[in-house]
Amino acid sequence: MSASPGAPEFADSYLVEVLSEFGLALKYVRAEGNTLHYLADDGSEVGVFDAASGFGSLMFGHNNPELVEHAKWLLDQQTPVHAQFSGYSYALDLAAKLNEIIRRELKTDDKFYGLFGNSGAEAVEITIKHAELDRGMRIKELKEGIEANVEAARSAIAGGARVSEAAAGLAGGADFDRLVAEVRRRNAETEARPPLFLALEGGFHGKLVSSVQLTFNEEFRGPFKALAAQARFIPRDRPEMIEKVVEEERAALLDVVVQDGVVDLVERDFPVFAAFLVEPILGEAGIFPISRELARALREACDRIGVPLVSDEIQSGMGRSGTFLAGTQIDLKPDYIILAKALGGGLAKLGVVLVNEHRYRKDFELMHTSTFGRDGFSSRLALKFLEMLEADGGKAYQLAAERGAKAVAMMEAIKADYPDVVKEVRGKGLMLGFELHDQSKSADPEIREAVEYEALAFVIGGHLLRKHRIRIFSTASNLETMRFEPSIHLSDEELAQVDAGFRDVCRILRDQDASKFA
Ligand code: F0G
Repeated sequence: MSASPGAPEFADSYLVEVLSEFGLALKYVRAEGNTLHYLADDGSEVGVFDAASGFGSLMFGHNNPELVEHAKWLLDQQTPVHAQFSGYSYALDLAAKLNEIIRRELKTDDKFYGLFGNSGAEAVEITIKHAELDRGMRIKELKEGIEANVEAARSAIAGGARVSEAAAGLAGGADFDRLVAEVRRRNAETEARPPLFLALEGGFHGKLVSSVQLTFNEEFRGPFKALAAQARFIPRDRPEMIEKVVEEERAALLDVVVQDGVVDLVERDFPVFAAFLVEPILGEAGIFPISRELARALREACDRIGVPLVSDEIQSGMGRSGTFLAGTQIDLKPDYIILAKALGGGLAKLGVVLVNEHRYRKDFELMHTSTFGRDGFSSRLALKFLEMLEADGGKAYQLAAERGAKAVAMMEAIKADYPDVVKEVRGKGLMLGFELHDQSKSADPEIREAVEYEALAFVIGGHLLRKHRIRIFSTASNLETMRFEPSIHLSDEELAQVDAGFRDVCRILRDQDASKFA
């Protein structure tokens, strides 16, 4: 049995059915710059302006000629794609280049060790594993200290010291061995607790088994809760909640001390949390840049709790915000940085975690491997991509900022004309969100129904595609926000096209007349 070519018979059947309802199931056959071409019924190609841009992974556009040329050259050169587990890999050069850029932006001489994977979510999973290894080692050091204190107390007892009344009460007697057994039993119980992570409400960190538990959206996370460690989520406008959550989850190990000939018990803070993950610009939440104040509060909180601060720059990084890291603009000082998406130039799949030397656990290098991780092809393509970003004194960053500012001005002008329809324009550089007001009270029952079924963004997307040849989606967890992440080669003509399309949508929503949707 075989299906006709391209028929969604053996994959994506439900997905294509849903997209078809909104006219979004086009067959794209060619892509260049900010344009995707689909095949019309008569066999001709129709170009569509792509504001989705590979979910933000195309800084230089689809099939950028310089990157494509380089990819071909790499293959012609017989670049070893697979030479892992050897003395040299191109991933080392990539890590060095990333260090150069990141140290410049973070204004530090600290070294960042690279760990490589194949996607954003995989890089988050690597982060989770590394942070848990680190936590385990911190627990081990704590326990070794406690065991050393137990031995010191044992010597003191032999020399005539006695067990305090409080300690004897806990152990059910003044016998030192019983006390030690009770301390170990209780400590083992605490140690058996699974780790917790901290993340922001609305945050998105991927959809693999562990990373999805750090992704706030209940729809993605809920069904898989039993599979992995959990996160406590902090509202981004209420950093004071961190203290409250930390207090709620607080746990301690028992330690023994000898003071004035008396053996007593004290509590040592147990490392409950493994890491705090944040996006400097929350993407899927609806493009919300976090504030400089929050960045500082996060750093202080992480130092207080003793956990690494992880900046997920998978979507916001690689220059999209106008700097290599979006966190640079708010002085975010992370211990780990996660990169993926655009890093492979939109052609290669890779994810990288960069871990500050003060937090790095080198044992991880022998524990974690992946067949394609740090492969030669994606590493060298990423190097080329970085070279292009940094060329001409960082012209690409400047373009992201300039083209982004122009797009913001265009969207703000629409907001000024349609204040009842457009709620807010947000973002930095070319990571922008265009938020519409809630339409659930629209006079048009069709619009109300679309809101009720969480389908209005699809309806709008379908209209923009058919009538204006614009491909755009809402953010995954904020359906009122259209996300605008084209490449830095965004032209004035393309901006004018988006201006016309957005204005048309605003008009229809203001008129409360869904019959005008194409
Ligand atoms: N972290 C962030 C901030 C992301 O935006 C994404 C993906 C991931 C992690 C996971 O990366 O898809 O390569 O495994 N965001 C996609 C999006 C889904 O729609 O922007 P991945």
